[in-house]
Amino acid sequence: MSKKRVVVLISGSGSNLQALIDACNCPSYPIEIVAVISNKADAYGLTRAQQAGIAQACLSHRDFDSREAYDSALAEQIDQHQPDLVVLAGFMRILTPTFVQHYLGKMLNIHPSLLPKYQGLHTHQRAIDAADKEHGVSVHFVTEELDGGPVILQAKVPVFPEDDEQVLAGRVHEQEHRIYPLVVKWFGQNRLKMVAGNAELDGAILPTGGYANDDT
Ligand code: GAR
Repeated sequence: MSKKRVVVLISGSGSNLQALIDACNCPSYPIEIVAVISNKADAYGLTRAQQAGIAQACLSHRDFDSREAYDSALAEQIDQHQPDLVVLAGFMRILTPTFVQHYLGKMLNIHPSLLPKYQGLHTHQRAIDAADKEHGVSVHFVTEELDGGPVILQAKVPVFPEDDEQVLAGRVHEQEHRIYPLVVKWFGQNRLKMVAGNAELDGAILPTGGYANDDT
């Protein structure tokens, strides 16, 4: 089976991108990263891409007058690489409905909370402030609702009383680097699809909390 072509969008450090790059080093991994695009010129993820020999580019949102104009230019740049999948890996932009529709069922995001909890920013601090006993990360298909698309896989971590935001973020990050390459692999193997607004793995609709849901 030929490898699926993946474009990764980033805004920052790119540690999730690195986890995907590392996964791609295994010959049987079913995807190849064909390009990395950042909206920030100083994103360290661009250096990671360069070091891995992957085409990389910056398209700064500051060079555009509107969200629509930026997303349109971004889509044009992405499509030059003819991707089968777009992976958002810390891409800190709100996306226009047109952009989302263009990649519907072909775009994944990773969000550092147990969705539907804590959509948006500052998720780790919010979990601490709420005295949550557990926190985590979700990988989901991207739909027009911010951080609201169907969840594919979550990983949970404990929250300890002495945790600060940084410590908790580090614990969550470790899990991010495990589950994102796994979900991307499922997509590459044609096992994962979005059908009628649901995430399906091997033809079965996944529960609200994704594959590893244990609330039933
Ligand atoms: C990750 O923690 C990811 O979950 C988060 O940004 C970080 C990027 O880290 N994404 C979001 O908050 C999206 N709403 P990285 O650049 O080291 O991969």
